[in-house]
This record gives sequence, structure tokens and C-alpha cells, in this order.
Amino acid sequence: MKINERIDFLRKELAEHNHSYYVLDTSIISDFEFDKLLQELVKLEDENPEFFDSTSPTQRVGGGVIDGFKTVAHKYRMLSLGNTYSEEDLHDFDTRSHKLTDQEIEYVCELKYDGVSISLTYENGDLTQALTRGDGTQGDDVTENIRTIKSIPLKLKGDYPANFEIRGEIFIPIKGLEKMNKLRNEEGLEPYKNPRNTASGSLKLLDANEVSKRPLDCYLYYVIGEDLPSTNHYENLQKARDWGFKIPNEIEKHSNIENVLKFINKWDEDRHGLPYEIDGIVIKVNDINLREEMGFTAKSPRWAISYKFKAEQVTTILNKITYQVGRTGAITPVANLEPVKLAGTTVKRASLHNADQIAKLDIREGDKVYVEKGGEIIPKVVGVELKDRDLFSQSTEYITNCPSCNTELVRKEGDAKHYCPNAESCPTQIKGKFEHFISRKAMDIDGLGGETIELLINEGLIKEISDLYHLKKEDLLPLDRMAEKSVENLFIGVGKSKLIPFERVLFGLGVRFVGETVAKVLAKHFKTIDNIIDTDIETLISVDEIGDKIAGSVVNYFSIEENLKLINNLKESGLQFVSTIEDTTKSSNLNGMKIVVSGVFNQNSRAEYKKMIEDHGGKNVSSISKNTTFVLAGENMGPSKKQKAEDLKIPLVNEDEFLAKID
Ligand code: IVH
Repeated sequence: MKINERIDFLRKELAEHNHSYYVLDTSIISDFEFDKLLQELVKLEDENPEFFDSTSPTQRVGGGVIDGFKTVAHKYRMLSLGNTYSEEDLHDFDTRSHKLTDQEIEYVCELKYDGVSISLTYENGDLTQALTRGDGTQGDDVTENIRTIKSIPLKLKGDYPANFEIRGEIFIPIKGLEKMNKLRNEEGLEPYKNPRNTASGSLKLLDANEVSKRPLDCYLYYVIGEDLPSTNHYENLQKARDWGFKIPNEIEKHSNIENVLKFINKWDEDRHGLPYEIDGIVIKVNDINLREEMGFTAKSPRWAISYKFKAEQVTTILNKITYQVGRTGAITPVANLEPVKLAGTTVKRASLHNADQIAKLDIREGDKVYVEKGGEIIPKVVGVELKDRDLFSQSTEYITNCPSCNTELVRKEGDAKHYCPNAESCPTQIKGKFEHFISRKAMDIDGLGGETIELLINEGLIKEISDLYHLKKEDLLPLDRMAEKSVENLFIGVGKSKLIPFERVLFGLGVRFVGETVAKVLAKHFKTIDNIIDTDIETLISVDEIGDKIAGSVVNYFSIEENLKLINNLKESGLQFVSTIEDTTKSSNLNGMKIVVSGVFNQNSRAEYKKMIEDHGGKNVSSISKNTTFVLAGENMGPSKKQKAEDLKIPLVNEDEFLAKID
């Protein structure tokens, strides 16, 4: 046998053994025999470097410590799922889904693994890239770390598509964490608290060799690509199993929501017997064409939802209610608790949401309260043990004045929260605004932290954000903790922030409801701050992903004289107010038009038509209403959609007519 043939044989043989052991959970040869084959391969590869292959089983051990991860754009956005917590929510999801289509819906029910999501790219059967979710648009390239996970194939078998992505969850089985903690204990180290965080921390290690020692595993649950074997999700997963992936067996198809509920209830019980943690069930529409028809909201698909199991609960004493002031002036009541263990951590504080919540549950200081940790990081108080209440306890009087500046609080109609209206001079709000502005996702100003901000505010050196760009060295040096070096770092940080792209400046301004994603959407669409200042609610709403609430908040922010002055000052300081996000707009032929895409097409895929609509200035909407401009209708458009279009006199445009419109 030629050397390359032996190398090939050993690679195949070892990959097969890995697959049996780590994917199928069956072992055919002993560890000793496996190691013997591996060592032979290592030796042959060492002696014959011309046969190097990154997908060889020898390449699962990391190649050294790296400085950091490359950020890479996702080809397909990595969205999260909407959450539901009750039977009623789930029926609502079912009703909503049926409103979006005339077709029968088949759901696929899966377990919701509590780990970290990963997106794997395979080209011609080889693993070429592994990205974390990141912000959904771009993630960290953790390929080298992922290679160390033995249940993830480096090379596929069988009849796989040439190019595709597959997504899943990296997790640490419960036993694996126990083993790790036993070792840590022996070394006198603190144990890891929960498998999820440990899995997430492991993926971020800069030494793949270290990662290879962690008992990481991976279930795959989503195949994406242009030429998949089937137009239904379930089939694609079964095929992916044949290509070598670890696909969960606990998947069921159900056409009615009652059976979906049965699946949920079964696993709510049985989950305690699983070797890994799950925090709910994911329900997905099976038909991929139907998924395309149903579309997405800004953050999640309309064709899937997660059902979260009831969170763990404990009781403890509520010692005191205190009140926090946010950067927008919103007041949040906080429960200060007798410390208690909950889901692996010690809880001392919990959210009380707002005045209504306190009144509804009649929560009082001194009460024994139920505390719960759900999907959110911050635990919340969900009830009171009334039978244990002290006879002399007093009902809670919600504060009427700001705990920071004593201004009388206001409550706007339809808003559950109280607000401190003193935006200009409430110290806590001002500090919060500064902290948001300098934060990593906004201006990322190194050399400035919460304490320095507080110091500068107290010294009267900064009142509003733009003052940061007018600080003078001679004012800073005499201050406590402000040595030459710190001042220098501060100036470097502030100077560098002038290069931060427009969308992050916009996010940094702290307009209510304008988070990172929305800021990006606005910057991309409007290009300059002046265009955003000049726009109106109607135009804003016509932008994909912008709804009434955001539009109202944006228009309100830019109607306030002080805010406009602030922006002028920041402009004069040289901050970026023009977007450099690449413009994919090809024409304005569809400007302001709201278009529904429905049916099956011959010349381009539905996704391509949707992109064309955006590229030419139009907006994709998912259901027909009187505001729809036209329906781009393919073959087999649903009868009720057709009827609705007819009733509302909305024109149907076919593929050729549409292509003529945008050409
Ligand atoms: S599907 C577009 N299926 O839950 C939807 N996600 O909140 C893609 N997860 O980011 C996700 N088990 O990390 C899907 N069977 C499953 C899942 C699952 C766990 C995680 C995943 C995702 C998050 C959604």
C-alpha cells in the first residue's frame, strides 16, 4: 500500500471510530487500539507533510495560543427565538401562524438545549468555518476550538450539498461538568457554577489545546443552504445524520397544537433524566417554503418559537425595597433580599418591575417572597407567602420623588414605569447617559470608567456628552486619581472615539428603543443624522424593522432643542454622523412601496425576490392589508390570500412584470 493510501485509510478509520464513539455512543475498538492507529497516522503525517489535510483526525488538537478571534459576517443572520411560557401563548403562536398562510402547518418539536449556539460551514464536505452567534450579523471565528469537539465531523460522508451551513448548540453534559469540578476541587479551585456558562467560556478560550480538554458536545438542529436535499426541515436533519452529524433523536412532527403540548408536558417531566440541561422546547414550522412565506420580525423568525419551562423558584425574606434611576429616567424598584441559593448562584437582589407589579402582588418589606430565575439574568419576585406575613406590616407606598434628585416623578399614559423628568440635571440619569455613551458597544472609550465619569460630573467638568470632547489637561491633572498617565489615556480614548462609525454614535446617543440593531438599520437607511432629523413617523415606519414605538421615540428625540444642540456640538467635535455602511440599494423604483411576496417562483427564489425588493427601496410585508402596494404573486398562491387581494383591490404582479419594474 502506498503511503498516501495508508494515510487515507487511517484517517477514514479514525473518523469512523470517532463517529461511533462520540455521535452514536457505541464503541467498537478499545482506547488502546484507537491511540495506536492515531499515533501511526501522526507519524506518517509528520514524515510526509505534503499530505497535510486540515480535516485529518490529527488536527483536532489545537495548534497554539492565539491573540484573539477574527470577527466574521454571517452569511445568513443568526436570529434568536421568541419565547412563550404558557399554553395560551402557544395557542396564540398557532393562531398567528395560521393567519400567515392558508396551508396546513406541520410543526417539528425539538428540545431546547441550554448551551451556546454555533454555525458551522462545510464546503465540499470539509468543515471550513465555525462562528459564534455574536450580534447575529457577525460572530467570532472559533473554528480551531470547534475542531477539538469530537462529535463534530471534520469531513462528511455520503451525499451532502457542496455548500451549506448547519447550526446547533455546544453544551457540556452534566456528568462532564461534575468531572471538571472534581478536578478543580482537587486543585483547590472554585467549581464552575453552571454548564451553559462553562461551555460559553470554553469556546472563548484562546488556546485550543485547553479547549480540547473540556467535555464539550454538540447537537445540530438547523441546516441552511441553497441546495438542500429536501424542502422540509425534518428530512434535512435526518439526511444530516447520515452525513455524520449528531442529530437529536428526540424530535417529533405534530400537526396539531394539542400534540405539541403533550410533547412539551412529557419533556417538562422527563428532562430531569436527561444527561444534559434543557430549558424548554423549540417548535418550528417544518416546510421551508412556508417558512419563507411567514418571514421574520426584527429579531426572530415568525415560523418558530420556544416554550420555556417554568423556572426554578425559592422563597426568602424581602428586607428592603430600593429604587434605581436609569439613564432615560425610568425608575426600577429593586427587592433587596436575604441572600438565597437559586439555580446555582446566590441571589441578593431581584427586580420588582414597576409600581403596578408591587401593588398587584401586594409586596411589602419583611414579606416572605417567591423569587424565580427565568431566562433573564436578573431574578424576579413573583409572589408573596401571605400566610407568613407580619401582622403589623405596612403596604408599600411607591416613591413619589426621584431618589437621586428629588424631582417629582411622572407617569405617562400607557407606560408602566414612573419617570424622573429632570433629564438635564438628575445626577444619576446624567451618569447613566455618559456610561452608555462610553460603553464598549457604543463609543468604546478606553481610559474612562464609571468612577471617572462620576468624578468629572461632581467637579462640574462635564454636564452633557459633548463636554467630553472639550476637557482640558490642566483641569484634570489636579483631580484625585488623575495622574499624567491616566489623563493621557483618557485623551487617547476620547480622540479614538471620533473614528467610531455613525451607527454606534447613534446608538450611543441613547434614544429610547434605539438599540444596536435599530441604530444600524437607521444608519444604513438614512445615511446621515440630518436625514434622520428631517424624517417623519410615516417614513420611519416604512423602513423594514421599524415600528410605531421606535418611530415615535426617534421623532420625539430629534424634536427636542437640547438634543439638536448636542448633536451640533458633537458634529463640531468631529464625530461621525455619516454612515459608511455599504449601500446595497440599486434603485429607488420601489420606494415607499409595501409588497407581499407569495407563491412559488421560477426565475429567482423567494429570498432573492425579497432582497430585490429591499435593494430597490421597497418594504417586504408579510400579510395583505389595504396599505399593501402590490402582491408579487408566484404559482400556487394560497386561495384566501388571493381572495383578500381581490377584495381589497390590491394588484397581483407576476415575476416578469416585477422584474420589468425594477430593471
Ligand atoms: S433553532 C432561527 N433549535 O435557542 C432559530 N435553537 O433563543 C434558530 N436553541 O439561539 C434556532 N435548542 O442557541 C433552535 N432545538 C433548537 C435549539 C435552539 C437550543 C438555542 C439557540 C438559539 C436560542 C434561541
